Amino acid sequence: MITAKNLNLIYPDGTEALKGINFQINKGELVYITGPSGSGKTSLIKLIMGAEKPTSGQLIVLGHLMKTENQKGIRGLRQSIGPVFQELKLINGRTALENVMLGMRFLNIPRSQWKTKATEALDRVRLGHKILSVAENLSWGERQRVAIARAITRKPSLILADEPTGNLDVENAENILNILNSLRDEETAVIITTHATHLIDETAITQLIHIENGLIHINGGLHS
Ligand SMILES: Nc1ncnc2c1ncn2[C@@H]1O[C@H](COP(=O)(O)OP(=O)(O)O)[C@@H](O)[C@H]1O
Ligand SMILES: [Mg+2]
Repeated sequence: MITAKNLNLIYPDGTEALKGINFQINKGELVYITGPSGSGKTSLIKLIMGAEKPTSGQLIVLGHLMKTENQKGIRGLRQSIGPVFQELKLINGRTALENVMLGMRFLNIPRSQWKTKATEALDRVRLGHKILSVAENLSWGERQRVAIARAITRKPSLILADEPTGNLDVENAENILNILNSLRDEETAVIITTHATHLIDETAITQLIHIENGLIHINGGLHS
């Protein structure tokens, strides 16, 4: 699904965020990307989503050659990615259900199925009891779960979660990670970045990529 060969990212100000990264992620994997703050985790996620372009080296994501892919190709790729990001864009004044349904506008899902599919997704993240709560009344962990529900309605091939446990206490963080871990199946790879390595369930993962200072220090790939 993803192949990176000697991948480099240098920002316009000269910051070398990633320096010669190599890895491969296959269908059905559960991958954690760890490393201290500023090590390059978000930069790697941005490259995978096409929000930044590699400076040099090769990155192929779901068949797209990211260095040369055009905007149309990137838009196509993003249809297959379920993003779960730190700055949650839930709309206040709208319920959990409405927030998930609003995320379905740009997908090829008939309007008549929005409610059923959104309810199913919210059940899957164990938020079935809160579907009618407005976004601002949900806890941070619950909001994060709405974001996950929104991501899974896309039936993505790739789920990308950048620091999904950000502001959460241990119990809620474990809860979110368990839900994300459970989304992995034969067709879907799940990639999660975190600096909270103590929360990782090592028995569930297929690969652990540890980055420091833009370099991969450990690649505990069980498939490589
Ligand atoms: N848009 C940018 N322009 C310049 N430097 C950046 C930019 N985004 C991130 N960086 C720098 O790149 C490095 C890696 O950042 P980042 O990928 O956000 O790390 P992490 O997500 O692991 O905390 C840091 O030194 C950060 O300051
Ligand atoms: Mg980050």
